[in-house]
Amino acid sequence: NHEDMRKIIGIGETILDIIFRNNQPSHAVPGGSTFNTLISLGRLGVPATFISEIGKDTVGDIIIDFMKKNGVCTENLDIFCEGKTPISLAFLDENNEAQYMFYNQFPEERLNFVWPRIEKDDIIIFGSYFALNPTLRKKVCELVEFAKERKAIIAGNWKLNKRVADIPAFAQELQANLPAERCCDVVICAPYPLIGALESAGKCCALGVGAQDVSEHQHGAYTGEVSAEQLSDLGAQYCIVGHSERRSYHGETDLQVNAKTKILLENDIIPIICVGESLAQREHDLTETYVAYQVAAAFSGLTAEQAVRCVIAYEPLWAIGTGNTATSAQAQEVCASIRATLAKLYDADTAKAISILYGGSMNAGNAAELLAQPDIDGGLIGGASLKPVDFSKIIAATAQGACE
Ligand code: 13P
Repeated sequence: NHEDMRKIIGIGETILDIIFRNNQPSHAVPGGSTFNTLISLGRLGVPATFISEIGKDTVGDIIIDFMKKNGVCTENLDIFCEGKTPISLAFLDENNEAQYMFYNQFPEERLNFVWPRIEKDDIIIFGSYFALNPTLRKKVCELVEFAKERKAIIAGNWKLNKRVADIPAFAQELQANLPAERCCDVVICAPYPLIGALESAGKCCALGVGAQDVSEHQHGAYTGEVSAEQLSDLGAQYCIVGHSERRSYHGETDLQVNAKTKILLENDIIPIICVGESLAQREHDLTETYVAYQVAAAFSGLTAEQAVRCVIAYEPLWAIGTGNTATSAQAQEVCASIRATLAKLYDADTAKAISILYGGSMNAGNAAELLAQPDIDGGLIGGASLKPVDFSKIIAATAQGACE
């Protein structure tokens, strides 16, 4: 319900990436959840004694109890907490300035955040979304649904690249290069054997992790397949479906894309559904018709509620891995036509809520212009996602484009 004016106040890095996508970054505190919780409580006027007291304990229930006791939390204030966040030490000094020790790896500008006033009915969410149990995750998603229009997502597709041993350095370098103000979800879709390692290493920079394919079957005699349930066990939150490389090298059909989309949604994994025309189709002026067909096929049988949990990636085949990026006008035209298709299949509000990414030779140089297009909400990036510095530049470019 977009009319709902409740503020949602997230404390902690990961949760913010989920919630404050492109419309309310001013309510976001980037940085480690515990540290920010403490600093933020200080800014809310919570007395120094309280903050130094919890410096020896865990955040969770203590903060909730405290807020309840101090009238910050009202009956209508929904608070979730991961409960076991290790604490750092922060306190207010005699000038009422927040001071901190330990956990202070964040650059100074991240600390100069002014909190909005908490009103009755606001929602406060502590800690990392990914650390919440699945039931709470669902609840959080329901609660924040009204706050988001659609999310900006920068997703890397590593394809058949990298090894487990490469991951710590990648995560470190990514973290070091990420812009302080990030206004998109950042995801890497990795080969299956890398997902577990990436999930743990990526925690440092709130990295979403995904797979590149999934079996359309739940389980059974399907040698070589990997199920959505198994991906979920590994911590995958996203999965690419219908990538053109799977369609052309492995004969993946639109019916399979549809079946895979459904099984991913059943397992709370966000499908990134790839569509896109070949050069011959473009030359025969078939782009929009063909892409509309692919979208209709992928979404066949999905309710609007399921549809808004999907992401679409428009990847023209002739632009993938070729260095021939679609012009921003070409990409915008097709992405707008995809949104029009979604509006026909569902309704305008549903179409507006679905993120559409562009993919195909996107890089640090062309990202800002592509992301500035009104119907392009992010990118699916192959080659440039393998290098943390290049990938970070694309992430930084969302600040100029997709989240305006
Ligand atoms: P490139 O960015 O290497 O062109 O790959 C695009 C792609 O296929 C992402 O899925």
